[in-house]
Amino acid sequence: MKILLVGSGGREHALGLGLHADPACTSLHVAPGNPGIAEFAQCHPIDILNNAEIVALALEIAADLVVIGPEVPLVNGVADDLRRLKIAVFGPSKAAAALEGSKTFAKEVMSDAGVPTAHSFTCTTKTECEKALDTFGAPYVVKDDGLAGGKGVVVTSDRQKALDHALGCKRVVIEEYLDGPEVSLFGISDGVSILAMQPAQDFKRAGDNDEGPNTGGMGAYSPLPWAPSDIIDDTFKQILAPMIAEMNARGTPFVGLLYAGLALTNHGTRVIEFNVRFGDPETQVLIPLLKTPLATLLFKAATGDLADTVLEWRDESAVTIVLAAEGYPTAPKSGEKISTFPTIEKVQIFHAGTSLMGEDLVSSGGRVLTVTGLGTDLTEARDRAYRAISQISLPGSFYRSDIALNAAVAEKGN
Ligand code: AMP
Ligand code: GLY
Repeated sequence: MKILLVGSGGREHALGLGLHADPACTSLHVAPGNPGIAEFAQCHPIDILNNAEIVALALEIAADLVVIGPEVPLVNGVADDLRRLKIAVFGPSKAAAALEGSKTFAKEVMSDAGVPTAHSFTCTTKTECEKALDTFGAPYVVKDDGLAGGKGVVVTSDRQKALDHALGCKRVVIEEYLDGPEVSLFGISDGVSILAMQPAQDFKRAGDNDEGPNTGGMGAYSPLPWAPSDIIDDTFKQILAPMIAEMNARGTPFVGLLYAGLALTNHGTRVIEFNVRFGDPETQVLIPLLKTPLATLLFKAATGDLADTVLEWRDESAVTIVLAAEGYPTAPKSGEKISTFPTIEKVQIFHAGTSLMGEDLVSSGGRVLTVTGLGTDLTEARDRAYRAISQISLPGSFYRSDIALNAAVAEKGN
């Protein structure tokens, strides 16, 4: 099977390795890819914001399967363009990708499907915003309705800041604050069936102890030894299956990866958000743990053939840590030389924002590398990942020192 994978981050590096490792994958092409991915796949420097370029490349290489990594091409409808040409695609149609593209749409579908989420109001005027803020009280949660590249959500106890953010959005969702640990739980769907993956936890804030600004994610780990033992079944029954059934009933089946961002509150699990693609950096812990051959799995999802598939996992833990460029997330500095790549057993280093300048590998994005350690438990996985990341040199870079720390300590205590 010839596969075209679209994207260029740490998530795509992990997905690419997973696809490449499946003997069913006879050739792997990535657009645009990055220097890490180029070590095992053929990279094509196209503009992935232009659907026509993706379609032309898929035709040129006679792709049997196209896997779309990031959300923007999906929201732009590239999956529809490919399916019109009878090319199998892992990724939702434009209509189904609106689950990530519009928070209001996601709320409507959740409401119709009976899926638990925060109470919310969609507002377009100052009066509506003020009323919604005062209905829920602090802490205020204000979300830009549309895609905002991870900068659309403000959670604050400062009413003025909340209102300012709301007024800066064209359409805004103001919702109830959800208290409780956050979990990312992904489902792989062929439009009818959905397979729940094991949960992961992401660390969104830039600094230790969850301080500092929100980011795309600074690290992740899986599995979650502290989570309720029925979390996968419960999320499947309450959230993933009803969403897939509702999307089907609407005539817009969801084929691809449904990312449920959950809050485990005292009143039960609530959906914080849906994304329509693999999470980054959660993918960098989930794919190394997944035993089920990835290319075959995603092809089955893309062709409506998942009903008899069961996911199999390695009995190990994984921790990933993001190496971020100086100034991330506000103004990341690029063009710095990356040197020293440690080779440590059971450590995988994924490229996220790197490029080649002559012979040199240099930083070219906010999140530069993601370093995953595997181990028999979280402590061992963390130790490996931290040992490796501490040996990488990139001027000005930083990483959090507490990824999976509390969970590892709690696990040891049990
Ligand atoms: P999102 O971009 O929707 O993932 O939101 C970014 C972050 O904002 C989430 O990971 C949460 O930490 C926080 N957040 C979003 N919605 C809520 C909510 N209703 N209550 C509490 N925190 C929230
Ligand atoms: N890790 C958060 C995201 O992928 O949106």
